[in-house]
Amino acid sequence: MSDKPVRHFLSLMDLTPHELDVLVKRGIELKAMRNRNFVHEPLKNKTLAMIFEKSSTRTRISFEAGMTQLGGHAMFLSPRDTQLGRGEPIEDSARVMSRMVDAIMIRTFDHETVETFAKYSKVPVINALTDLLHPCQLLADVMTYVEHRGSIKGKTATWIGDGNNMCHSWTNAARQFGFKLNIACPEGYDPLPEIMDPAAGHYEIIRDPVEAAKGSDLIVTDVWASMGQEEEQHKREQAFSGYQVNADVMSAANNDAVFMHCLPAHRGEEVTADVIDGGQSVVWDEAENRLHAQKALLEFLMD
Ligand code: CP
Ligand code: NVA
Repeated sequence: MSDKPVRHFLSLMDLTPHELDVLVKRGIELKAMRNRNFVHEPLKNKTLAMIFEKSSTRTRISFEAGMTQLGGHAMFLSPRDTQLGRGEPIEDSARVMSRMVDAIMIRTFDHETVETFAKYSKVPVINALTDLLHPCQLLADVMTYVEHRGSIKGKTATWIGDGNNMCHSWTNAARQFGFKLNIACPEGYDPLPEIMDPAAGHYEIIRDPVEAAKGSDLIVTDVWASMGQEEEQHKREQAFSGYQVNADVMSAANNDAVFMHCLPAHRGEEVTADVIDGGQSVVWDEAENRLHAQKALLEFLMD
């Protein structure tokens, strides 16, 4: 192994704006290569360990298939079957695992867990969602916008709903990719100051979703109760009842605005079926692009 400092991807802020642009372009290239059945295996003999402390469909499948397509291997690890679940310290697990594999992907609750893991790891650590951030999703989301509408620089995106991990990552994306973010969230569900304060000038909180959507190129939402908040479902349904993305919100946005959702979605809650299944929705491309954008990330960190 070389002495080059290890790069991690715990947040969009870990890469420069130029590096992020390169990843998005590379994701588009890798997608075209796959569509031509071109075999590209730069990660032969490399292993990605994937630790999932929360459920996943897209993230697990995209990382696992992505590693296979790049010629490497992905290993699914759940705390139930490893010593992590029996209390082996994060520091020790990171030291041991990073001596055996070439990169480690983690989906967990506390963001500090991925930070500690990265601190003790000799190989790149990828944040595959924490309560604070979901940066991999934003690689796919920006790639999807670029594919459909061209550069996102200077555009306006509107986030509607909870000030959660996805909202935080959209805020970081606004800083790094140079677009404006309107945020419509009910009082009491604002995104955290630790993410928002350094993003001053890149976002605006506009409580009314229809007002927030005006002049927007992209409307995005997410579930009202994230993983780990299941017991708050009922309370949140009430708090967010005026924050559904529906035809009124979409018609306030620009005519060519796209609709995004990281999925899984709840039709009839945060989004109506006519919007998510309608002509402005790009959610299926967005989900597929997790594969291509993360292959670009794996190549960047591991090759
Ligand atoms: N969007 C997303 O991360 O989906 P999964 O929870 O299915 O991985
Ligand atoms: N905010 C959601 C995103 C799921 C991909 C959650 O954390 O559950």
